[in-house]
Amino acid sequence: MSESETARDLLRNMPVFPPTLAGFDPEATPDNPLELFLAWLSQAVDAGVLAPHAVNLATIGLDGMPDARIVILKDVGQRGFSFASSSASPKGRQLQDSPSAALTFFWPAMGRQIRIRGSVSEGQTAENAQDFRRRNPVARALVLAGRQSEVMMGSGDDGVQEQLARLDADDEIVSADWTVFTVAAETVEFWQADTNRRHTRLRYSRAGRRWDKDLLWP
Ligand SMILES: Cc1cc2nc3c(=O)[nH]c(=O)nc-3n(C[C@H](O)[C@H](O)[C@H](O)COP(=O)(O)O)c2cc1C
Repeated sequence: MSESETARDLLRNMPVFPPTLAGFDPEATPDNPLELFLAWLSQAVDAGVLAPHAVNLATIGLDGMPDARIVILKDVGQRGFSFASSSASPKGRQLQDSPSAALTFFWPAMGRQIRIRGSVSEGQTAENAQDFRRRNPVARALVLAGRQSEVMMGSGDDGVQEQLARLDADDEIVSADWTVFTVAAETVEFWQADTNRRHTRLRYSRAGRRWDKDLLWP
């Protein structure tokens, strides 16, 4: 048996969703997608979904190729969906070059996906600093060392211990690179799986101060 046959066997008929799923009536949805997002998020938390705030962030690479990785959702409000990272990281540089992004949540236990697309803005200094100070010391030291996504050459320390010692001496130190990025949603799509494969997709599209709602073919 070839390697690909083994992989195909492994992948075939793999369960994706639990046997019963929450219902979703698009007719009974709010006018604002933020409200529905918060309702789905709290249902995911109640259902015990692991890391429901982990979200795939897709950006446009400096070479024009798509790039994607998981980040943690830090806040959500009328301004948009916020995550934080170093502006000196590849994603940070990509967002400076092309300030737009797509976010994708996937909560298998709920049979749900949420897709968000929009332009990206950077937080003010105070907001960035506040988020930085909330991080644990090792996470802060790693940002201060400023090497995210560089190839590791030596012991894997490269100044991290030194930054930890600096933070130990002064807990208020902040990295100027740490940035809260906010995606101002232009579209938000809610996807609800159905056990009979009649999945439901509801897309909100910004129309000035209002939102248009459309059902999409699954
Ligand atoms: C569950 C999870 C949460 C993560 N959260 C963040 C985050 O909030 N910010 C961040 O910069 N990287 C986070 N990462 C690491 C990124 O996925 C990525 O490896 C790193 O930011 C480098 O990305 P870049 O080279 O595209 O800049 C997280 C990874 C995982 C698996």
